[in-house]
Amino acid sequence: MALSNSFPRQGDKQNSGFFEEYLERLLQERDSIGLTDMIDQIEALMITVDPGQSIRYIGELALMTPYQYLVTLESKSHWTHVLRIDMHSPDLLIREVKDKRTRGIFRSLNEVYPIGARKPNSRYMGEVLRVLDMHGVVECQQQRQFRFFSQDDVRKLELPGNLAIVKPSPYTHNIVCYMERPPEQLRIYALGNSSINPEVQDVYLAAKELQKKLRIHDLILPIDHLATRIYSQNREVAILEWLSLSSYYYWGSYNISDQNSSTNVTKSVHHNSEMYSPAKVFTANNTPYFVNHLDGLPSPTETFARNYGPRLHHIAMAVRDGETDGRENIEHVVSQIAAQGRGFLLDVIGSRDQGLKQIFSSASEHSSLIIEYVQRFGDFQGFFTKENVAGLTHAAGVEEELLELQAQSQAEPG
Ligand SMILES: [Fe+2]
Repeated sequence: MALSNSFPRQGDKQNSGFFEEYLERLLQERDSIGLTDMIDQIEALMITVDPGQSIRYIGELALMTPYQYLVTLESKSHWTHVLRIDMHSPDLLIREVKDKRTRGIFRSLNEVYPIGARKPNSRYMGEVLRVLDMHGVVECQQQRQFRFFSQDDVRKLELPGNLAIVKPSPYTHNIVCYMERPPEQLRIYALGNSSINPEVQDVYLAAKELQKKLRIHDLILPIDHLATRIYSQNREVAILEWLSLSSYYYWGSYNISDQNSSTNVTKSVHHNSEMYSPAKVFTANNTPYFVNHLDGLPSPTETFARNYGPRLHHIAMAVRDGETDGRENIEHVVSQIAAQGRGFLLDVIGSRDQGLKQIFSSASEHSSLIIEYVQRFGDFQGFFTKENVAGLTHAAGVEEELLELQAQSQAEPG
């Protein structure tokens, strides 16, 4: 039986008595009823984009990550492109809505936020988790009051019919889906007609060719972590909710006081390496936006949540430890990609002595998601240094402010 409460605690952020009590009770019960063992790794991530965006987005991802284009599943009002590295790390499902008038629950989640509304269909939707017994897991989660989309809803949403899909979290707005698959079987998504789209294939092959030419193709590794930004008051409940839905444990939280923010990390109980199942990170302001003027505190994390809604902020890709042409690999990767016209929000920060180096790209014009690169040196296990996170959070906040001003200047007066 898994022991989800047995991992050493990291970090310096204090949690409430409520959090500590329920963390222990929830994980203990999850282990004892066998739910922790029934839920395994993150199998796939789902991202939706607006009409006309998916092919260029796949070109971007094929250059910036190790993902390969596999197949396109066509249904009545969506194309769903499947990208894969291998069966050890999660797939990416990139869905494009065909008609910009398409409406639905996921679009509604964007529409009440000023910047989110500008790309109404573009959002990170959530994760698919592999389970060994779909029926057992769904039954357990229904007993915990989690609500699922009905089979009919899933069909109308044009999401794979072999998923059980929990309705969006009130705290993160993300969804969690379950998919049953024995370890030796390939991943199959029951949706529409599958074919290789020649246009996607061309863009993908050109990007992979360029990756080779730039000598970055074997330096970028699978996803290291996924970082979701949420409102300050939801920090503890968002973590506990995710732990109830998954087989992750609470690694710990760091207070980034410079940016009035905290970084809260959860990791898979079953997989030591993030390459198999990425860490899930939640970032939240320490104090809500309307009190920050009293203490003159910055608020980049909550500003993001207010502009886009709670949602995924970045996907971090690991970079292989080592050097290329006398530079650390992360420096080489970033300068080669930047030379192709892709922007980065700051210079690479951190150092070998601190254990890791990190950087944020600018947000994708297709998905609004940032790509982080992270290179760890030697056996460093951490996710960040406090100085790095403060620098990254600040840089993302500056871009955010510019976008907000742009949105305001384009808004109708009156
Ligand atoms: Fe990160």
